Amino acid sequence: MKKIVTIIGARPQFIKASVLSRMVLTAKWKDLFSEIIVHTGQHYDHGMSEVFFTEMGIPTPDYNLNIGGSTHGKMTGEMLIKIEEVLLSEKPDIVLVYGDTNSTLAGALAASKLDIPIAHIEAGLRSFWKKMPEEQNRVLTDHLSTWLFCPTQTAVENLLNEGIKEAHLVGDVMYDVSKKYSELVSQKDNNERGKLLNSIKFPEQLKDESFFLLTIHRAENTEDPAKLRDIFKGLSQIKMNGILPLHPRTLKKIEELNISIPSNISVINPVGYIEIVLLQMMSTFIITDSGGLQKEAYFMNKPCITLREQTEWVETMELGWNKLAGTNPDLIMQFAQSIELPEKHPDYYGDGKTVERILKILAS
Ligand code: UD1
Ligand code: UDP
Repeated sequence: MKKIVTIIGARPQFIKASVLSRMVLTAKWKDLFSEIIVHTGQHYDHGMSEVFFTEMGIPTPDYNLNIGGSTHGKMTGEMLIKIEEVLLSEKPDIVLVYGDTNSTLAGALAASKLDIPIAHIEAGLRSFWKKMPEEQNRVLTDHLSTWLFCPTQTAVENLLNEGIKEAHLVGDVMYDVSKKYSELVSQKDNNERGKLLNSIKFPEQLKDESFFLLTIHRAENTEDPAKLRDIFKGLSQIKMNGILPLHPRTLKKIEELNISIPSNISVINPVGYIEIVLLQMMSTFIITDSGGLQKEAYFMNKPCITLREQTEWVETMELGWNKLAGTNPDLIMQFAQSIELPEKHPDYYGDGKTVERILKILAS
């Protein structure tokens, strides 16, 4: 029996962890693995954290460190101290981390200092922009890890270029999650869908018309007033309505800078995973600066406009499914007004059995 301590703390990590943390409890795996879940507290609002545990049946964390809402150094440092205490008492065989947040780096660093092997899920991604906090977190985490689980061939090659040869090309855990929940949402009838939409205060006027789904939270956009204003300028020129489940970070900035939301954009609170999958399915296209949403757009056959200058998910751009507009208002408007569906749609992200593949490797 191998003991895993899993470190999670931010919204996309709860979503990514949902499959593995449930799978290790099933008959096939429960005698091979035990899992202790540590929630660092990086995300803490109900709609950014608890909703995912409830909706997705993720086991309640064994530890909640309640460390969130501070500067990167303080947050990462406090997490490092607390995670070390947990690891010293739990003595795991494996520390499992996901993605590229401050929680990821703190978990990897704490494990590495105690010489505990680290499994990194979503290894090898690069934006090649060193100022990006996530790029710092992922590069450092990859170089500390024992098992590097890569979602794409590009990620494997990025690691090879940095001299890391231990990569496993397993596919993307996000595809496992998206596949599972899009099947679940597809089975819901109109009445059930209506209830879900009411629960998130989906605007009445969008129920019978085309709309785009929008998310904005990336620090490079929210922390630069000119960029944030440019994004909304571009959005206001799109001749379609959009719906924006608003990340708390962006809400704070919009209020602080007194930015007025364009009349074609309806703001709602952040939503749970089933609800976002429904919005993805209903939307005509997606505009986002999120890593996860760019891929979910692809999984759902929806064109995507990315509000960034670079993407780690380069495959989504190959055939034109994803376009980088940065924060240029004219590009945002132009791309949105010329949306088309590319003909081909290769399976870049695996077959939906990534988590099982990861567990087999860890078990052996
Ligand atoms: C973090 C990750 C980012 C990931 C994102 C997912 C890092 C460096 N960044 O960015 O990679 O894409 O999560 O959403 O780890 N806040 C709340 N309530 C919450 C959570 C956050 O009010 O539940 C506010 C706080 O003011 C906080 C700010 O949002 O200071 C930023 O949160 P933080 O976790 O530092 O960064 P994110 O932008 O969420
Ligand atoms: N998401 C969600 N509710 C929302 C907005 C996003 O469940 O209101 C999901 C989204 O579908 C994706 C994940 O959160 O699965 C992405 O998280 P986020 O954009 O916060 O972080 P990133 O992927 O950029 O690290």
